[in-house]
Amino acid sequence: MALPTKEEAQELFDYICQKTDFYNQRNGLPEGISRRHYLCVAENAKQIASKTSSLDPEKSYILGLLHDYGEFKEQKDRRQFHGTAGYDEMMQLGFDEVAKTCLSHSFFDGCVTPENYPSYPPECIQRAAQILASQPYDDYDRLIQLSDLMVKADKITTIDERLDFVATKYHVPAEKILFKKEKAHELKSYFDNLCKEDVYCILGLKND
Ligand SMILES: [Fe+2]
Repeated sequence: MALPTKEEAQELFDYICQKTDFYNQRNGLPEGISRRHYLCVAENAKQIASKTSSLDPEKSYILGLLHDYGEFKEQKDRRQFHGTAGYDEMMQLGFDEVAKTCLSHSFFDGCVTPENYPSYPPECIQRAAQILASQPYDDYDRLIQLSDLMVKADKITTIDERLDFVATKYHVPAEKILFKKEKAHELKSYFDNLCKEDVYCILGLKND
C-alpha cells in the first residue's frame, strides 16, 4: 500500500484547491470553501487518530486532505462521480491508500447502490460497488467517513446537523436519513470506543 509523503500531499492539495476554486467561483460559491472542507476533514481525522493507539495521525491527515481529490472532475463534468474520479487519479499516481478512501468515504452506510445515490451517475456507483466488494473497509476508511460526516460544507459540526443539511440539499426521504443517522452514530460509537473518549469532546463539539 502506498501513500504520498507530506510534501507530495501538500502539492496535490494545492493542485486540487486551485481547480476547485476555479469551479466554485464559476458556480457562485464562496472562495476557498473546498479548501476549508478538506482541511477540516484532515484535522478531524488527525485529532481522532491521535487518541487511538492503532491509527497514525499523519497518515490520517493526508488521507483527509485528499479524500475529495476527484471533486474538481465532478464539478467539470456532471457525468463523473468524485469518488471514482479521485480513485482513478490516485491509482494512476500509485497512491492506492488514498485511492481507496477517495472511493470509500461516500459510502459510510454500506449501501453502494445507484438507488441510494440518485444524484450520481448509476454506472459510477455500480463501478464503486464492484471495486469496494473486493476491498473491505479498514479503520482508515472508517475514520475518513466519520471525519467527513462531521463537516458541513467548511465547518466542523455534529453528525445530525450534517445529515439534516444533506437531507435538505438532496431531498433525501426522511426514512433514508433516519437509517443514515443510525449508521453514522454506529460509526461514531466505534471510534468513541477506540479513543476511549467521546469523539464530540475530542473535536470540541461537546463538553465533558
Ligand atoms: Fe468531503
